[in-house]
Amino acid sequence: MEFPIVRGRRLRKNNIIRRMVKESRVHLDDLVYPLFVAEGEGIKKEISSMPGIYNMSIEHIVTECIELEKLGLSAVILFGVPHEKDEEGSGAYSDDGIIQQAIRAIKESTDLYVITDVCLCEYTSHGHCGLIIDGDVDNDSTLELLQKEAVSHAKAGADMIAPSDMMDGRVMAIRDALDGNGFSDIPIMSYAVKYASSYYGPFRDAANSTPSFGDRRSYQMDYSNRNEAVREANQDIHEGADIIMVKPALAYMDIIRDMRNKFDVPIACYNVSGEYSMIKVAAEKGFIDEKKVVLETLTGFKRAGADIIITYFAKQFAKDFAE
Ligand code: PBG
Ligand code: ZN
Repeated sequence: MEFPIVRGRRLRKNNIIRRMVKESRVHLDDLVYPLFVAEGEGIKKEISSMPGIYNMSIEHIVTECIELEKLGLSAVILFGVPHEKDEEGSGAYSDDGIIQQAIRAIKESTDLYVITDVCLCEYTSHGHCGLIIDGDVDNDSTLELLQKEAVSHAKAGADMIAPSDMMDGRVMAIRDALDGNGFSDIPIMSYAVKYASSYYGPFRDAANSTPSFGDRRSYQMDYSNRNEAVREANQDIHEGADIIMVKPALAYMDIIRDMRNKFDVPIACYNVSGEYSMIKVAAEKGFIDEKKVVLETLTGFKRAGADIIITYFAKQFAKDFAE
């Protein structure tokens, strides 16, 4: 059949029919809001490269979480901004670390689902995601620290663990450690497909986690590669990952779709800091309509195949589009 019998415009005639045939929708249930927890008191400092996003000390984080819950959001992912950093990133796995304290405080005051980023880079003086041995990021000795970090998050009350370090074998190591410590019910959302990306720039400002030497290309993926994403995801699912994440999201829609087509686990994408800032700045300049661009972007992730979207726009979206 073809024109004039076939006319695509019939199903675009008005809002009712357009909504009826809509294939992808963003729902608040899909969104995870990242929070930067700063060590100290009375801190609420806007991140200069991320308008509307703040480093907050725990009492402000709790107030924020109560507000997020009222807005209808249900999940957050936590990043730590500690005072002290050292070679081994010991703040990451101390039971009194900034994230461990934040988890307990949030859990005391809200019913939010608390996901924690498991990595060392926010806590190491050199800013790398693993231990440095002979000038290089050492894979296998890093695994033990990641295990300790994951277990200490779970002990503090985290609902889900999200390792972002890109060391080989970390999902298996973390699954093992969680199970061995009575946390077999805590899921792992693996940053399985994490590219070495310049879109992380503003995040590294926020977390003060830019590597002091070299870069992350010996552990994060080369953005030219697509088959490698499938191998990484396959491996992590074998090791026990419950959810697979693609990061960044906007320049990697093809990868999100590959994951959706190839695997039957839930797929998450991380709409990262640089992607957020680009929209914010263009909107501030009046070049684009922010509200509409945000809806279009998040809907694009769903259409690409993401079930879960981690985004700095979550709060704004909840305010603008709550039904
Ligand atoms: C830490 C981590 C990073 C992000 C999430 N976890 C930064 C990095 O790898 O340098 C990026 C998040 C963002 O840009 O919004 N491993
Ligand atoms: Zn890291």
